Amino acid sequence: MADIVADIEGIKPANLQFNERAKILCANYKVPLLANELTNSYVVLDENPKLCFKTMDLQNSFTQGKFSTRISRIQTEHLIKKAFALDAYKVKTILDTTGGLGHDAFILALLGQKVTVVEKNIGLCILLEEALNALPELPYFIKAKSNLTIINGDSREFLKTPQNFDVIYVDPMFNSQKKLKRSKQMEFLDSYLDEYDDPSKDFYKEHFQRLVVKKELRATTGIKDSSAISFKGSSIRYDVYLKGEK
Ligand SMILES: C[S@@+](CC[C@H](N)C(=O)[O-])C[C@H]1O[C@@H](n2cnc3c(N)ncnc32)[C@H](O)[C@@H]1O
Repeated sequence: MADIVADIEGIKPANLQFNERAKILCANYKVPLLANELTNSYVVLDENPKLCFKTMDLQNSFTQGKFSTRISRIQTEHLIKKAFALDAYKVKTILDTTGGLGHDAFILALLGQKVTVVEKNIGLCILLEEALNALPELPYFIKAKSNLTIINGDSREFLKTPQNFDVIYVDPMFNSQKKLKRSKQMEFLDSYLDEYDDPSKDFYKEHFQRLVVKKELRATTGIKDSSAISFKGSSIRYDVYLKGEK
């Protein structure tokens, strides 16, 4: 069983204009609509939705900041293309078992792949949904959105059917015990999530076709398998495991 994680206590629309959208999200995620209650952890809904936790907050925009630069250079995503063995002639079905803010999943969707994104935290699922909703109505964004399916839940629910996907992807949190340079987003997730869940070892025991695990470049290998291949970037690497007799 997965650990129980901290999550939002509800959604606060910033003003009347966002009431209807907030009600829809509250119904979908079964969380209360909040007014001015004092809470530790909630989503504020406005044109730039915010996940608030204690004194910190997190936003998720696909059109501003660092991630928008990554999107604008989509064709330079060579590392991800190699790790996932992307093929111009065959669309891959991918299970992203650790959705987070959906950045990797969105890159894969923009590259034309069909991605099922599973994220167990409701607050993060909402930030992802709203980042997708805020995208301009451009054909390549519309196509990418149609390539994504977001599921709120524990990806271990898919442990019995990993063979239904061409690739199983795991991006666990990097261990904060190490003195790594961490982005503001990672620092937020570090305090907010309050756990390090890594489903990679569970998926490794099953009959997957290709398992891709994102790691900090110098991190020790989590799964001992001498046939694994690593694709290395400047700060991260992808450890790739292929189907074998388990
Ligand atoms: C490092 S973040 C992933 C970032 C993501 N790759 C991105 O590009 O935005 C790890 C996320 O995995 C989620 N997670 C960890 N274990 C999970 C599980 N078993 N099922 C669903 N989500 C999980 C955590 O809640 C966290 O949001």
